Amino acid sequence: MKTYLVTGGAGFIGSNYIHYMFKKYGDDIRIINVDALTYAGNLENLKDVEDRDNYTFVKANICDRDAINKIFEENDIDRVVHFAAESHVDRSIVNPEIFVETNVLGTATMLNAAKKAWELPDGTFKEGKKFLHVSTDEVYGSLDDDPNAYFYETTPYDPHSPYSASKASSDMLVKAYMDTYKFPANITNCSNNYGPYQFPEKLIPLVINNALAGKDLPVYGDGKNVRDWLFVEDHAKAIDMVQEKGKLFETYNVGGHNEKQNIEIVKTIIDVLREELDDSDPRKAKLSYDLIKYVTDRKGHDRRYAIAPDKIKKEIGWEPETMFKEGIRKTIKWYFDHNEWMEHVTSGDYEKYYAKMYDKR
Ligand code: NAD
Ligand code: DAU
Repeated sequence: MKTYLVTGGAGFIGSNYIHYMFKKYGDDIRIINVDALTYAGNLENLKDVEDRDNYTFVKANICDRDAINKIFEENDIDRVVHFAAESHVDRSIVNPEIFVETNVLGTATMLNAAKKAWELPDGTFKEGKKFLHVSTDEVYGSLDDDPNAYFYETTPYDPHSPYSASKASSDMLVKAYMDTYKFPANITNCSNNYGPYQFPEKLIPLVINNALAGKDLPVYGDGKNVRDWLFVEDHAKAIDMVQEKGKLFETYNVGGHNEKQNIEIVKTIIDVLREELDDSDPRKAKLSYDLIKYVTDRKGHDRRYAIAPDKIKKEIGWEPETMFKEGIRKTIKWYFDHNEWMEHVTSGDYEKYYAKMYDKR
């Protein structure tokens, strides 16, 4: 039975990945989720799995060398899937240092701990051990409006925000470990994810939440920046496929071929919400394009991201399965059906969940 050490599993993509893995492998794997529970970590995302015998939660910071080494000493870890990071670009513009701390130093700690646990006296590594570093397409910088330009694995790094600079630095560390020590790792660089459990600071859940509350929908700049949207479950599947079928030491770009301008996204959400709400629902009356408010642009706002996922398709056979039309409906429906989740997040109550569930045990 393989043991997975997942970092940042209480966040958006990490929790979706854990759900995906238990759905796929059931009792045939063990997952240890290590998360510091920053504002972005929410154990309510994992309510459905927390009682499983093959799931363990450890509250720890990935920069805490002793805590991370201890996990490796007490468990025979086969796979590391490293999600933990500060992930929001706007926050990185306001407070860059925590991004360097978590994303760069935290990744260094994870790499060192895994190397220490997995390295044999002759400098090779124990058979079958693998580390996957989850990264972003933002490391490649920004494309202009030419619809034929894409990010490839060979595209030079050109990060612009403190967030993407810190992710690029962490990628470089992983590359250095692979080149110097032949450390058994892969890197995935993925485009914008959307789906259940996303913190409502990010565009899609923020717009859903504000639209239902009849609040303004802030669109940065001219609203024509383009992002390449991927349903989060497709990302989870890609990560698993890269670890099981990918070639070690390789980088794989993961993307949805689903480029949309931000303004299109906002209008689509309004349209879908209007279709889903009953005519008698008072929220429907307030819901119109009039809620859209163009606001000051993000500093250094990257214009367009677009992933060429040719390599992962050719070498591994991964392709996105959820088309945007279907994915956005699923996502909106999820937020409708999980009103309580959103209420707990916006009120801050979600931060008490850890104390309730774990401190009393
Ligand atoms: P998120 O912000 O929702 O979750 C991050 C998680 O990491 C949280 O649970 C948080 O508590 C935890 N964490 C933060 N600092 C920590 C620390 N020092 N020690 C331990 N845990 C810590 O992020 P997300 O959107 O799920 O992104 C996960 C990963 O995927 C990140 O590495 C991000 O760069 C990458 N990524 C995200 C996207 C996207 O669209 N969201 C796309 C591509 C890649
Ligand atoms: O590309 C992958 C990246 O996608 C990940 O690495 C990041 O972790 C993730 O946060 C995301 O970054 P973005 O900056 O693209 O996502 P965000 O949801 O913050 O913004 C999406 C676009 O919408 C972006 O062009 C900025 C714009 N925007 C965002 C917000 C929050 C608005 O116009 N209004 C808003 O209120």
